[in-house]
Amino acid sequence: MKKYNVGIIGYGWAAGAHIDAINATDKAQVTAVYSSRTLDEAEVSRKHGSKIRVFTDLDAMLADPDIQVIDISSYPSQHSAQAIAVANAGKHLILEKPMANTLQECRDIVAAAEKNGVKGCVCFECRFSNQFTVTNSVIQEGLLGDLHYAEVDYYHGIGPWYGQFRWNTGKKDGGSALLTAGCHALDSLLMFMGTEVEAVSSVSTKSRSDIFAPYEYDTTSVTLLHFKGGKVGKCASVVDCLQPYYFHTHLVGSHGSLLDDKFHSNKLHTDKKGWSKLSMKMLDSGDVSDHPYTNQFQAFFDALDENKDMPLTSLRESLKSFEVIFAADKSAEEGGRLVKLSEMK
Ligand SMILES: NC(=O)c1ccc[n+]([C@@H]2O[C@H](COP(=O)([O-])OP(=O)(O)OC[C@H]3O[C@@H](n4cnc5c(N)ncnc54)[C@H](O)[C@@H]3O)[C@@H](O)[C@H]2O)c1
Repeated sequence: MKKYNVGIIGYGWAAGAHIDAINATDKAQVTAVYSSRTLDEAEVSRKHGSKIRVFTDLDAMLADPDIQVIDISSYPSQHSAQAIAVANAGKHLILEKPMANTLQECRDIVAAAEKNGVKGCVCFECRFSNQFTVTNSVIQEGLLGDLHYAEVDYYHGIGPWYGQFRWNTGKKDGGSALLTAGCHALDSLLMFMGTEVEAVSSVSTKSRSDIFAPYEYDTTSVTLLHFKGGKVGKCASVVDCLQPYYFHTHLVGSHGSLLDDKFHSNKLHTDKKGWSKLSMKMLDSGDVSDHPYTNQFQAFFDALDENKDMPLTSLRESLKSFEVIFAADKSAEEGGRLVKLSEMK
């Protein structure tokens, strides 16, 4: 048996991808699932190729001493109560995005984990994608120089063809264009810039198409980020578009630029009239089976072995992204007012 036994809360679309990804690491296996629905234990075990116990009582799963890690893949409005219960039960935590749909709840989750000495992994798995691993290397090798401007935008039409639509249209679970999905783009932008945000300004709107009419909130937003030291960034989150999935990344620095999988660098003396191409696996799909969860979960279990916070997507690191996201949503609600991060304290 591998070292960590993982119990899953919620047995939906993301959970299915998590189970396969956790089982694909060399340190953990899924041994339990909690669902409010009645699931057939034999069927669930057969589907994932190993013995999985099915719980209908969350407290019973949390009380099981053989489980060391709990993975929360439930509705966003359930995340905070469940995550705090997990931390209080002394289990480490994998938490799907959004951490929660209010900033206070996100902070309460981090406080509960720290109080109980447990570690966390937030599913900002794009940070572990091949595309962004290569992009980070291009930055770290100094090929772009010092970044002063970056745009990272998320275009993904989440309409009735998408399973989440049944709950994602509601404010309670969907939250906002950033909370429901664009958070991946904003989180990645913060990783690339590597500097603290001082203030944000955001405006939002929604498509006139009947397809997206059920949404209770604005499904397009664009946020300007003012970083400490004067750098600036932009993040559009568009979940009501009719086009292929597109994660737009444009980074501009003192030695060159990167646009998605293309770059120019004065350091390499490439010809500025044309882009040079990087070969990498692009983030070009909203399908969870294409997401780089295995790399992320492996990094989490490796960090648990050393009793350290995981790199890139620990609870504390991800909380920083949510502080910016909630400041942006506050700005959009107030018609684009410049909101200082210090106001969110
Ligand atoms: N990181 C990512 O890129 C990514 C991608 C997809 C989802 N997510 C997140 O994962 C979480 C779950 O999203 P999801 O796409 O798995 O949603 P889902 O609708 O498949 O599952 C959500 C919840 O509904 C329950 N559920 C599913 N089908 C049900 C049914 N027929 N009857 C009753 N309950 C049912 C699930 O057990 C789960 O608790 C959310 O927080 C979401 O934001 C993240």
